[in-house]
Amino acid sequence: MNDNTSHPPILKLRNVRRRFQLGETTIDALNSISLDIHAGEFLAVWGPSGSGKSTLMNIIGLIDTPTAGKVHFDKQDTCVLADDELTEFRSRKIGFVFQNFNLVPVLSALENVMLPLQIQGVAEHAARRRAAAVLVDVGLERFKGSLPDKLSGGQRQRVAIARALVVEPMLVIADEPTANLDSGNSRMVIDLMREMNRARKVTFVFTTHDPRLLDHVDRKILLRDGDIASDEVLQ
Ligand SMILES: Nc1ncnc2c1ncn2[C@@H]1O[C@H](COP(=O)(O)OP(=O)(O)O)[C@@H](O)[C@H]1O
Ligand SMILES: [Mg+2]
Repeated sequence: MNDNTSHPPILKLRNVRRRFQLGETTIDALNSISLDIHAGEFLAVWGPSGSGKSTLMNIIGLIDTPTAGKVHFDKQDTCVLADDELTEFRSRKIGFVFQNFNLVPVLSALENVMLPLQIQGVAEHAARRRAAAVLVDVGLERFKGSLPDKLSGGQRQRVAIARALVVEPMLVIADEPTANLDSGNSRMVIDLMREMNRARKVTFVFTTHDPRLLDHVDRKILLRDGDIASDEVLQ
């Protein structure tokens, strides 16, 4: 059962437009998106390449700002935040997982997961302890000393998920987290995100262009040409 919509939304988008100007050409990557995301949801945004998925993720993740419209995150109108406030807000509340894993190659799995905590000023021993615990949760305890190039793609993405979770964010955003994985590892990554969503009560929003990965989501939003073509809550 999906009862997440009984909670107030953690994220509210109203009439969000994102326009890119390339010389003479105007591209509306998003036309007018209105959307509420509730705490605890496990939500997939899917649609063909160029439909606006990454643009939407960047706006939801407070990496990019809309050309028009409103974004409220955790009751805060994000338009009124200064750049440094926005950075601080984002680093405390949102975790990111990327298609290319984005691990630091010279750091071990454990050190990669410690990094966001150290950036927040958490002392090294505490960061080490917390990072090690999250690596246990994602099933990589044995690999904590390994450098990323000694890990498989699926394992690297698990490290990246641990790194996103270690700051205990409200929301994890994953833009095409399975794009560089085979179908078995893709399934594993989605299942792991689902498990973390349930166990840690973290909201997940991920994008995919692979409809086969949509079997176990609470909700799926189909984007087409910068608009929401359908928004299905699955019971
Ligand atoms: N930084 C940018 N500058 C210009 N056009 C962009 C930029 N980012 C995205 N676009 C355009 O916006 C549209 C949506 O892109 P995107 O959000 O990346 O789609 P998706 O992630 O679904 O493939 C595309 O037409 C793309 O070319
Ligand atoms: Mg994309």
